[in-house]
Amino acid sequence: MPPTEAEVAALRLYATEAARNSYSPYSHFRVGAAILLQADQRQDGAIVAGTNVENASYRLTCCAEQSAIAAAVTLYGPEIRIRAIAIVNLNGAASMPCGACRQTLLEFSTQETAVFYPNADGETVSATLAALLPDAFRLATE
Ligand code: THU
Repeated sequence: MPPTEAEVAALRLYATEAARNSYSPYSHFRVGAAILLQADQRQDGAIVAGTNVENASYRLTCCAEQSAIAAAVTLYGPEIRIRAIAIVNLNGAASMPCGACRQTLLEFSTQETAVFYPNADGETVSATLAALLPDAFRLATE
């Protein structure tokens, strides 16, 4: 089920709060992400947020989306499923999830997982993860 307007507003609020804690002394790009978990089992429709955490060895940087996923698994366990995620930044810029984050989101997504992000015009737009990551890699073992 797609998130309601109120749920998206809550996600954006949580993401904005998380972005205030961004550790981004190198890029100064302050990103926040908030995940709405499916309301079943232990997940309880909870919202879990994360921010980007950079490193002097640049490639060790953790994106906001990945921080949020790590926090959600830590809090709710390996069975989590993402109903929706909102991404924001405090720089007034576009903020679509990077390719690595799309693959990371896929791990815990469904066919319906919705991604909300600001586009270049400053509007919040939404897309399914399936649309953002077509023909995605999936590990096929026997
Ligand atoms: N960043 C994210 O947090 N999420 C993305 O999907 C793209 C990039 C962060 C990483 C780095 O701290 C800063 O934005 C600039 O790339």
